[in-house]
Amino acid sequence: MTAEAVEASAARTTDRVRLRVEGALAGFLNEHAAPASDPDVLEGYRLLREFVLSGGKRVRPVLCYWGWRGAGGPDSDEIVSAAAALELCHAGLLIHDDIMDASELRRGLPTVHRRLERPGRAGAEPFGRSAAILLGVLALAWADELLVTSGTDPSRMRDAYRCFSAMRTEVIAGQYLDILAQLSDEIDLERALTVVRYKTAKYTVERPLQIGGALAGADQALLDGYSAFGLPLGEAFQLRDDVLGVFGDPELTGKSVTDDLREGKHTVLIAQTLAGASPAQRQALLSRHGDPGLTEEQAAELRQIIVETGALARVEALIDERAEQALAALRGCSMEEEAREALTLMAHRLTRRER
Ligand code: IPE
Ligand code: IPE
Ligand code: MG
Ligand code: MG
Repeated sequence: MTAEAVEASAARTTDRVRLRVEGALAGFLNEHAAPASDPDVLEGYRLLREFVLSGGKRVRPVLCYWGWRGAGGPDSDEIVSAAAALELCHAGLLIHDDIMDASELRRGLPTVHRRLERPGRAGAEPFGRSAAILLGVLALAWADELLVTSGTDPSRMRDAYRCFSAMRTEVIAGQYLDILAQLSDEIDLERALTVVRYKTAKYTVERPLQIGGALAGADQALLDGYSAFGLPLGEAFQLRDDVLGVFGDPELTGKSVTDDLREGKHTVLIAQTLAGASPAQRQALLSRHGDPGLTEEQAAELRQIIVETGALARVEALIDERAEQALAALRGCSMEEEAREALTLMAHRLTRRER
């Protein structure tokens, strides 16, 4: 095959994997009907199903699939099911993340905790959050079940499961550090980069690749290569997310473009803004960033400060730097060629995305 043909085949396979993952998720959810016929329980299950099945780029399952193929694993429905487990884990993490971040919008719809609220009733909001915690836990538990029942080689599942467990521990530590940073008066760049690595890079790119690799019996050199590719790419993915969280188009991202500013998230973008700010800009930023009542006009002023301090350009440079680092690591990996093409394509998509 020519290089162009390999690239086209990798893109087609990626699109198909995304659809097959959705099929595997639908199949799993069909087999996991609500255990009680109570209409409220049915409604909760329906909402979780809708959240899992509608929308989402399916980044983690796609990477898991290519982690497997890169290690020489043949295409199979079993690896697609195992990969789909990562999407259930992701769904649980997102539901909990939106509670912690008090987010209103996800994938273009009200967040799960907002949708579970019972308007007009006393305690409607705490009920929505508590119910969403339960649905998030259910999704996380189902992720385990789908992974271990995927039908992939049981002798390799042990290594893959170890990697899956490490991933959960890392993302929880990252989320913890993220909310902890909110308590601090300082916005520290190094700390913000550590949060990015743990809350996103590992569970979004590095670990999904390694889980797929481990299921296919990848050697340590390839698993290390996945890490060398996955960490910078995963960091670039989150840095892009931070940019989209302030400058993106909500029609495309399906997320609010003021939440991060209202919540006062200690992102790398804001750390860079403070680093480049004049005393007046610093004062304006600190007085507005984290104000829950921030108006659209004030948000626009903050965006202007972020641009004028050169912070946006610096974050774009950090993204480019990491994307290049990831691609260089990928070129150095000894792996199956179509997988290398697919991962190259993913690296472009994840860093230059608009959604
Ligand atoms: C959102 O992840 C959370 C982050 C780690 C930035 P995605 O951008 O993959 O979200 P969906 O699944 O496509 O909605
Ligand atoms: C998401 O982090 C990380 C996880 C869900 C584990 P963010 O809070 O930065 O992501 P968005 O912007 O809400 O998707
Ligand atoms: Mg969030
Ligand atoms: Mg968050």
